[in-house]
Amino acid sequence: TDQSLIRNFCIIAHIDHGKSTVADRILQLSGIVPEREMRDRFLDRMDIEQERGITIKSQAVRVPWIFDGTEYTLGMIDTPGHVDFTYEVSRALAACEGAVLLVDATQGIEAQTLSNLYMAIDHDLTIIPVLNKIDLPSAEPDKHADEIANLIGCKPGEVLRVSGKTGEGIKDLLDQIVLEVPAPHGDPKAPARALIFDSVYDSYRGIVTYIRMEDGELKAREKVHMMGIGMTHEPIEIGVISPDMTPTKALGAGEVGYIITGAKDVSQSKVGDTVTSAIRPADQPLPGYKDPQPMVYSGLFPVDNAQFPDLRDALDKLKLNDAALVYEPETSVALGFGFRCGFLGLLHMEIVSERLSREFGLDLISTAPNVTYRVTSEDGTEHQVTNPSEFPDGKIKKIVEPMVSAEIITPKEFIGAVMDLCQEHRGEMGAMEYLSAERVQMHYRIPLAEIVFNFFDELKSRTRGYASLNYEEDGEQAADLVKVDILIQGEKIDAFSAVVHRDKSYSYGVMMTKKLSKLIPRQQFEIPIQAAIGSRIIARETIRALRKDVLAKCYGGDITRKRKLLEKQKAGKKRMKMLGHVEVPQEAFIAALSTN
Ligand code: GTP
Repeated sequence: TDQSLIRNFCIIAHIDHGKSTVADRILQLSGIVPEREMRDRFLDRMDIEQERGITIKSQAVRVPWIFDGTEYTLGMIDTPGHVDFTYEVSRALAACEGAVLLVDATQGIEAQTLSNLYMAIDHDLTIIPVLNKIDLPSAEPDKHADEIANLIGCKPGEVLRVSGKTGEGIKDLLDQIVLEVPAPHGDPKAPARALIFDSVYDSYRGIVTYIRMEDGELKAREKVHMMGIGMTHEPIEIGVISPDMTPTKALGAGEVGYIITGAKDVSQSKVGDTVTSAIRPADQPLPGYKDPQPMVYSGLFPVDNAQFPDLRDALDKLKLNDAALVYEPETSVALGFGFRCGFLGLLHMEIVSERLSREFGLDLISTAPNVTYRVTSEDGTEHQVTNPSEFPDGKIKKIVEPMVSAEIITPKEFIGAVMDLCQEHRGEMGAMEYLSAERVQMHYRIPLAEIVFNFFDELKSRTRGYASLNYEEDGEQAADLVKVDILIQGEKIDAFSAVVHRDKSYSYGVMMTKKLSKLIPRQQFEIPIQAAIGSRIIARETIRALRKDVLAKCYGGDITRKRKLLEKQKAGKKRMKMLGHVEVPQEAFIAALSTN
């Protein structure tokens, strides 16, 4: 394809402002998806995305568009809106020259509108501002067009108005993309260079690698070289997605497409790597991506420990399609072999465990999530703690926790409510700006641990759903944190240890001991359940001893009944963990960890 006829753009917006719906209308209008095959949010290809109504993965698709009698090739990428998937958005931006900034005409600018816009500007993309949902009676396009014009410095009249529902304005939007988004400007004659921006594991075809061509050309059946990992492959197929995988003879400068090499070993493809021709290789790789920094960590353990190798394999494959996921093996006294995994947030964590169970059939337990702490012991040694069970024993000189800078956008009547909430979560207020007469943007510096857990839900409920939140890393700060251990019959249960603020340590201890005392069945002896900070016990519950033996009622009864009972007990025991002398059912761990 002639580069001057290519336009690569992504659609960015705050969550629910209608990216996927507008993408649907574009697919329909361009004619690549026939009417009878059209379904809502066509590019949300995963079941989880359809069920939850949110986009998790960026999806690239090629659509033809005729403008002024000439056929153009549009490379469109629909991106996720939730803050946990910012890394997906940033990689998509790097594959484009333009961004359609979509704003819901009933809502106006929200927190992720701003963060996505700033990211697009950082990537030097041409921004096309668009108001969506103008079909709704509550839409206020004039008001929000002013807001957007102020923000990006255009004229209010230059903000397009569309409806993803009725299709109004979509044709103009596509024409505008052709007119305004610059054509790619790679060197078509140079040695080939393509950036890997995503990949996925297909059980039949092996690894499918998604690439954006910068320079030169890659031909089907011509050997390719992955510069970062230093591997050479013969592609079985190269092609474009339009709307499904469509093989082509070659991919030229500026095009977005895929390569299948037949490789099944997941280490053979790495997001951010550069693909070049093995016959005429480039000297320098493309810049690639910054590795994402996990925000929260949690342990993932197979319920059945025999599934540990399957879990490893599943994580390796999932990682191909989720470059933000990090993991390393860990062992727990209580839960056996598993992995300590790093995620970009709780939604990300939830999606990963759901995908592991759906796509790989794994039954998993996850431990309570935590952030990373830097702990300095009295003797000066420093520990990076991503797992509370690694928290050093003995005297602690200093603990440092990660901080974020948070942006909250809210109608002005909720300013007080937001201030209260942030204060309760140890937030420090910064500047406050009016976006319009009614809406303000508030800046805060807050510990990450305070924001990742319930903060967003509380914010929504205290502002009747009107406030939006975005945050990014912002250094570290010393804090008064302690590790709370949970002991069953004097034995420390690593999976339940937590690092919490001193003010909340007592309530954590009481909550966990109460919960466990209800979950662990009574046994032949008394079982103390304690919460402790170091050697100091802060909470205690006791499970009283059972008085009678289970078999007592069978004495004198028939022998087969007794044997059956014993066998049933044995089967039950398989799912029991022995902690010292105490038998704890697997379900007790799951239940105790689930509502944290
Ligand atoms: P994420 O990908 O999860 O960030 O969401 P999104 O931005 O892709 O939003 P999506 O397209 O899923 O739309 C969110 C909701 O708004 C859905 O219920 C859509 O049906 C609705 N919607 C989208 N565009 C329009 C529109 O133009 N008019 C009306 N009335 N509803 C719309």
